[in-house]
Amino acid sequence: MWALRHRQPAEPVQQSAIAIKSDPIPAVDDLGQVFPEYRPIHPTLSGFIDDAHAAIASLPVRDGLIQTETPGFLRPADALALYELAWFSNADILELGSAWGLSTSILCQAARNAGRGRRVVSVEIDPQFQRLTARTIRRRGLSGGFRLMPGEAATVIRRLIDKHRRFGLVFVDHDHSGPATATVCRALPELMRPGGMALFHDFNDTRHRTEPDAYGVYPAVRTLLEDYRFRYLRTVGCCGLVQRLPA
Ligand SMILES: C[S@@+](CC[C@H](N)C(=O)[O-])C[C@H]1O[C@@H](n2cnc3c(N)ncnc32)[C@H](O)[C@@H]1O
Repeated sequence: MWALRHRQPAEPVQQSAIAIKSDPIPAVDDLGQVFPEYRPIHPTLSGFIDDAHAAIASLPVRDGLIQTETPGFLRPADALALYELAWFSNADILELGSAWGLSTSILCQAARNAGRGRRVVSVEIDPQFQRLTARTIRRRGLSGGFRLMPGEAATVIRRLIDKHRRFGLVFVDHDHSGPATATVCRALPELMRPGGMALFHDFNDTRHRTEPDAYGVYPAVRTLLEDYRFRYLRTVGCCGLVQRLPA
């Protein structure tokens, strides 16, 4: 684990005002070979943001995934990056695919602790997972900053765009197929604020080579990066991080 000192609180700097160093996008043959550990993304941050951020690094890990009372498939690096990105988000946060609510609870906790009134909008298609996510969030006392939008991601996204909603962070973790991810990517210019971030889960995954019908996150992100307004920032855990350039 990246040796992080715990400094609290970090300065609330707007994403759009920050020049973040970027790494090249990995080659397809390198996907899933290494899962880069978390290191702070925002240059103003030199350690953990707060106790809740530090606590993620102390969670037990099995088969590379953090273990909490809420099931999920997050690596420590994924979870730490989610917390930081939500904490620094320059607008509300959009999550696509919540399952049991593990990532949702991290996003909601960070948004609450940042104290800037950011809310988490979470899209989930499965009614059972909708209930389980709502229960997770309720049990953690985070319902105030959470809004569940039941339904299919592409349909809900269209509704959000029609309502002129713009997000500072989009966590893409629903249907990992190429067509579904490409649909989201095409919507990102309208969905994201300048300077905002999009974190693609299971981007850094060997299944892009072994199960290309089910895993098309990588090619969809590559196509997104042909738009000059977006740049690849880095690989963290199994995620790929993309920024919409500040205006
Ligand atoms: C990998 S799980 C999400 C895990 C969660 N983000 C976490 O880290 O704790 C994917 C979720 O996306 C939902 N899902 C799949 N396809 C979807 C779609 N087209 N629209 C909305 N949700 C979808 C599934 O029901 C499932 O709960």
